[in-house]
Amino acid sequence: MSDTAISVRGIEKSFKDVHVLRGVDFDVERGSIFALLGSNGAGKTTLVRILSTLLKADAGAATVQGHDVARAPGEVRESISLTGQFAAVDEVLSGRENLVLVAKLRHVKDPVAVADELLARFSLTEAGDRRAATYSGGMRRRLDIAMSLIGKPRIIFLDEPTTGLDPQARIDVWRTVKQLAEGGTTVLLTTQYLDEAEQLADRIAILHRGTIIQNGTLAELKQLLPPAEIEYVEKQPSLEDVFLALVGETGEAESESGATGEPGDADASTRKEAR
Ligand SMILES: Nc1ncnc2c1ncn2[C@@H]1O[C@H](COP(=O)(O)OP(=O)(O)OP(=O)(O)O)[C@@H](O)[C@H]1O
Ligand SMILES: [Mg+2]
Repeated sequence: MSDTAISVRGIEKSFKDVHVLRGVDFDVERGSIFALLGSNGAGKTTLVRILSTLLKADAGAATVQGHDVARAPGEVRESISLTGQFAAVDEVLSGRENLVLVAKLRHVKDPVAVADELLARFSLTEAGDRRAATYSGGMRRRLDIAMSLIGKPRIIFLDEPTTGLDPQARIDVWRTVKQLAEGGTTVLLTTQYLDEAEQLADRIAILHRGTIIQNGTLAELKQLLPPAEIEYVEKQPSLEDVFLALVGETGEAESESGATGEPGDADASTRKEAR
C-alpha cells in the first residue's frame, strides 16, 4: 500500500528495572538501507528482536511489511529474514548442507541448485563440502548471510553483519547488501562501525539512552555540525564526528574526558588531519 516497509512507534522495553527502549520511533522506506547506530548496550539487538517477533515490546507498536509484529507475527516472519549478531550456522553440517537445510525449511523449489548458486555468490564453492566448524569467522558470516537470503525475503535484518570480519570480507558483505537493496529488498542493519553506515545507508538513526536521538541521511546528519573551520584545510565532519558529538565521547559513562564534547568543537575536525 505505502512505501513504508517498517514502521516503529513508541516502542518500549525493559528487562527488570533496566528501561532499555524508552519510546523508539522511525520508519524505513521500502527498498532502502536503514542503519541503526548505537553504542554497546544501546538496545539495537533488543529492537531487532522485537521487529523480528522474537521478543514482545512492553509498549508501542511496529509494523513490518504492513503486518503488526504483535498481532500478526506469522505474517511478519514470512516476509523477513534475520541474520543475528552471532552466526547461526550449524557447525556439524557443511556449508552446502546448511544452505540445503534452510532451503528445504523455506520450501524453496530446487534446494541444491539454490545452495550451489549461493555458495558461488559468496565465494564458498570450494569450501562448500567442508564442515562449517572449519570455516573462518568471515566465511561463517558469509554463509550466515547466504542462508538468510534463501526464499527471497522482502525485508532483511542484519545485526552487526560485519563485526569481526577483515576489511576484504567487510567489503564483500557491503557489496552484497547494496545488491540486495538495488533488487528491492529493504535492509535494516545495526552497526557500531560508523564507516559502514556511511558506506551503505540511505538513512541513519542513532539510538541513545532508549530513544532515537537523530534520524536522517548522511548529508543531513553532517549538517548538524558546522563545517570545519580550518583556514587552509577544508574537511566536512565525518559521521563519526557527528556521532561522538551527539552521544559524547565517553558513551554511557559521561565522566571527565578533556574534550568539551560540544557540537562544533574544532577538536573533532582537526583530529583526523594529524597523521
Ligand atoms: N534477555 C535479557 N535479559 C536482561 N537484560 C537484557 C536482555 N537482553 C538485553 N538486555 C540488556 O539490554 C540492554 C541492551 O542490550 P542489546 O543487546 O539490545 O544492546 P545492543 O545495542 O545490541 O549492544 P551490542 O552493541 O553490544 O550488541 C543491555 O543492557 C543488555 O544487558
Ligand atoms: Mg547487539
